[in-house]
Amino acid sequence: MGFRNTRDRWGVIAQGFHWLLAVLVIGMVGLGLYMVELPLGVRMLELYALHKSVGVLVFALMALRLAWRLANPTPAPAGPMKAYERRLAGVVHALFYVVLLSLPITGWLMSSAANFSVSVFGLFTLPDLVTPDKGLEDTLKTAHLWLGWTLMGLFALHVAGAFKHHMMDGDDTLRRMVPGWRRRA
Ligand code: HEM
Repeated sequence: MGFRNTRDRWGVIAQGFHWLLAVLVIGMVGLGLYMVELPLGVRMLELYALHKSVGVLVFALMALRLAWRLANPTPAPAGPMKAYERRLAGVVHALFYVVLLSLPITGWLMSSAANFSVSVFGLFTLPDLVTPDKGLEDTLKTAHLWLGWTLMGLFALHVAGAFKHHMMDGDDTLRRMVPGWRRRA
């Protein structure tokens, strides 16, 4: 079991980042959409606090994942791919990094602009990034929401691509992201 990536497979660390972040991010979108519909109350405040804490965790994991990706080789495509397919996959993957780093930052900025400090699982509190400002808060809320929709669009493209490789092309693109995968002899 290799921890690092090679030219033809993902290592366990990259696979772990992939599935852990997939679960956290899907949960975060669901939680975000659910909590904004709740009436003001204890449950709503608890879920907002959870959303903020897990969002900061996602940011930290994404930063580590980016560092790991840059420090490791990227496996070559698992099967033949047209030039436009490669480009599309590359753009979607790059945008995932941009969006998943921007969502937490806009969330943190929005909380500061709304005069709420961000506590991370009650362990420590992040410094406020801006002074309270209602106009800025509203702009950041809109940006956060649109980044969320962009994320859902990227997710749909990403999953469609993975299943196209798996079902139509019959290659190992999806399988080799699963820990324990071995190339068939
Ligand atoms: C992976 C990271 C994140 C994702 C995927 C995400 C996603 C979302 C989504 C989908 C919504 C619902 C938007 C709406 O319907 O108006 C939302 C709302 C919100 N998010 Fe995030 N978020 C993330 C990180 C963060 C972080 C780190 C913070 C703060 C530190 C934060 C603060 C908020 C707040 C305050 C709202 C409610 C806005 C309102 O009251 O309208 N988010 N988020």
